[in-house]
Amino acid sequence: MSFDLLIKGGVLPDGSVADIGIIGEEIAAIEPAIHADSGAKYDVSGNLVSPPFVDPHFHMDATLSYGLPRINRSGTLLEGIGLWGELKPLLTHEAVKERALAYCDWAASMGLLAIRTHVDVCDDRLLAVEALLEVRKEVAHYIDLQLVAFPQDGVYRDPTAMQNVIRALDMGVDVVGGIPHFERTMEDGRRSVTTLCEIAAERGLQVDMHCDETDDPNSRHIEQLAYETQRLGLQGRVAGSHLTSMHSMDNYYVSKLLPLIAEAEVSAIPNPLINITIQGRHDTYPKRRGQTRVPEMLAHGIRVGWGQDCVLDPWYPLGTADMLDVAFMGLHVAQMTSPAEMTQCFDMVTNVNAAIMNLDDYGLAVGKKASLVVLDAGNPIEAIRLRPERLLVVAKGRVIAQRNQQNTRLSLPGRPEQINRRHTLPS
Ligand code: FE2
Repeated sequence: MSFDLLIKGGVLPDGSVADIGIIGEEIAAIEPAIHADSGAKYDVSGNLVSPPFVDPHFHMDATLSYGLPRINRSGTLLEGIGLWGELKPLLTHEAVKERALAYCDWAASMGLLAIRTHVDVCDDRLLAVEALLEVRKEVAHYIDLQLVAFPQDGVYRDPTAMQNVIRALDMGVDVVGGIPHFERTMEDGRRSVTTLCEIAAERGLQVDMHCDETDDPNSRHIEQLAYETQRLGLQGRVAGSHLTSMHSMDNYYVSKLLPLIAEAEVSAIPNPLINITIQGRHDTYPKRRGQTRVPEMLAHGIRVGWGQDCVLDPWYPLGTADMLDVAFMGLHVAQMTSPAEMTQCFDMVTNVNAAIMNLDDYGLAVGKKASLVVLDAGNPIEAIRLRPERLLVVAKGRVIAQRNQQNTRLSLPGRPEQINRRHTLPS
């Protein structure tokens, strides 16, 4: 047989060892031992081969703008929104595009090859929309970018936001966004969910709303989002991002809410790096963590992925485009520390996030898109523990990033020169 590219000896996330043969942009074979006559070969024996990382919640119009025009002193969501409002009139098409492309370089190097990014439409110039539409096109051969029309200042609170959502969708933005908890009243928030879901239903689009990103236990827009999803037949195409108020809600109410979310097949996207940083800022002690109820939602059969949300922007001063950082933080805050739960956290930043974004051609299987990442780790749990180097990144059949295994040489009397950070659990 002959392939354009052959990845030999990798350990797949399920623990099996296989060779992966690639022809063009597709996976053509996955078998224990493939003998190929021609084509490029990469021996990755002993290293984890995974489908690429996927981020279902990001803000690429704001990324890498940290410090412009100043930093967020309080660390709160509301100061972040105010700060972004100061920066917005100063944005230029070129600067937004340059920062977004620089971030895509980081993502590519980390094996993060599908991203859903919100783009703020509360600027009548819509220059960020135009810039990210260009970026989506330019990176299409290595990153699948989905854009969400996001009315950051509230679709009713901002006088032109509603018409700008429509304009952005007409320009080719993929997904309908919203921010009901930032509207002036609970009632306006409720109406915004209804109207935006109706727009998505009419156009056959997906919905992804910032929903209840607050510590207020009475912020219950997720209930309305589940209701509208059910009413409009949008099951499997709607996501609620953040859902942090659920952390603080009354337990009895949550016992009613979770089955409604499951019934409507609404996905949940907590963003642990941001939620743990921004929520609870008004508390003294005990200080709430603010992350939504992840294990409880999973137990109800709700699809839950981990999102990154921010890298170096008005809301978050750190970030590296590494979805393993996201899984690592989410795992800790959700206390998902059993082997099965840790493995599940790896699945959440790969397969589950891809399912949330409805990426049909994703995965390590014959006929799927030939995109993968090779990690300096032996299994998914070790990948989360080490957050190791990405040794090889393949996007749509082409090698786009390579890195050597890095070894530290120790100079300690009586100790070996090489250290091995891998660790095999006793079986
Ligand atoms: Fe967000």
